[in-house]
Amino acid sequence: MERRDFIIQSGTILTATMLFPGELSGLDRSEKSLIGTRRPNPDNYPQPILKAISIGMNAPNPHNSQAWKFKILSDFEALLYLDESRLLHATDPPGRQIHIGCGCFLETLRLGASTLGYSAEYDLLPEGEYLLEEAGLKPVAFIKVAAGSTEPLPLSDSIFSRQTNRSLYEGELMTNSEFDSITALTTAKYSELSFHSEPERLKEMVDVLYEGMVVEANTHVTYDESRIWFRSSQKKIETKRDGINLRTDGTKGLLLSIMEFIVNEENEESWHKSTSINAFLKSYRKKIYTAKGIVLFKTQTNTMSDWITTGIDYVRFQLAADQLGFVIHPVSQVLQEYPEMDDLRTRFNELVGVSKPSKIQMGVRIGRGEILYYSYRREPEDLLI
Ligand SMILES: Cc1cc2nc3c(=O)[nH]c(=O)nc-3n(C[C@H](O)[C@H](O)[C@H](O)COP(=O)(O)O)c2cc1C
Repeated sequence: MERRDFIIQSGTILTATMLFPGELSGLDRSEKSLIGTRRPNPDNYPQPILKAISIGMNAPNPHNSQAWKFKILSDFEALLYLDESRLLHATDPPGRQIHIGCGCFLETLRLGASTLGYSAEYDLLPEGEYLLEEAGLKPVAFIKVAAGSTEPLPLSDSIFSRQTNRSLYEGELMTNSEFDSITALTTAKYSELSFHSEPERLKEMVDVLYEGMVVEANTHVTYDESRIWFRSSQKKIETKRDGINLRTDGTKGLLLSIMEFIVNEENEESWHKSTSINAFLKSYRKKIYTAKGIVLFKTQTNTMSDWITTGIDYVRFQLAADQLGFVIHPVSQVLQEYPEMDDLRTRFNELVGVSKPSKIQMGVRIGRGEILYYSYRREPEDLLI
């Protein structure tokens, strides 16, 4: 494509490379295109435990903060800890969601290790549950890898194609039997899954889920957490290899270039301007209302162990959905435990008939959507204690 200059109304000059960068769309679904570029390459490590950690790091995790760190005990064993410097204190005051991300990591590691010829096991909370102040000091899990897995485990071939899909969803509402076909691939072991796609019910739920985002965006400290983890250019994404960005939201082409030019996460004041918030909410609303169903993950109690095991069920569900051509997007706002969300969370719990000690740990919208830009991960050596 010819390099030309485009002049935007304000007189700002954008070059053609900014408008049509080579990295606009998602990669194809082949794992080879991700390994070693956006995701760690297990081949870079001779030690089986580091190979396994490399593949585990492909897991979904809140804000892609990758709040994991590891103490390597031997070539085959490690302890997983939370990285206390990467917690999301505003949107996740109890540390619940960040532990769900640990469950996602552990199960991705277990499945992924089988593709490398290893079997892997994890033992949760080897020193017991702990206070959030002890995060980083007490382990989330003990991980053990052994040689000898002969076949890749079911679902493991979706580790690289799975992605959080925040785009517009297309087609018909999802049916109960389609939902059942996903759960048949991965019977949830720890949490109870429910599926909702009856049109009136779906609208009622999406209304409240959307309101959750309105509360988050209008609460300075919670919306600021998105700013802190936001990466507004390919260069920042590649350098930091974490966080969230517009590309994984399905924004592309000219709009992406303009938005990345305008959005400046380093300018706190402009991030919180009502015009910026309203533009974001408008775009979010358009997307969330294309949900073809809502899936809720509920546990009978709300312990640290419930959080981690929900992560195991969640990632397995996402991998299974991927196998059948469905995509999902967590819509977690209304479940979060900060004071400004209290009333809406209570309303949501009433709507879905859940009361303490039960807890909806995850809520996701589900449907069919185009493949998007794949998120990055850091390298395992940056996560070692
Ligand atoms: C517990 C948990 C909560 C999440 N909540 C949200 C959410 O509310 N909105 C959202 O867009 N993504 C959410 N995500 C998805 C992460 O942002 C996503 O996994 C991360 O950015 C990495 O991207 P990937 O899943 O495409 O690899 C959540 C993930 C987890 C594990």
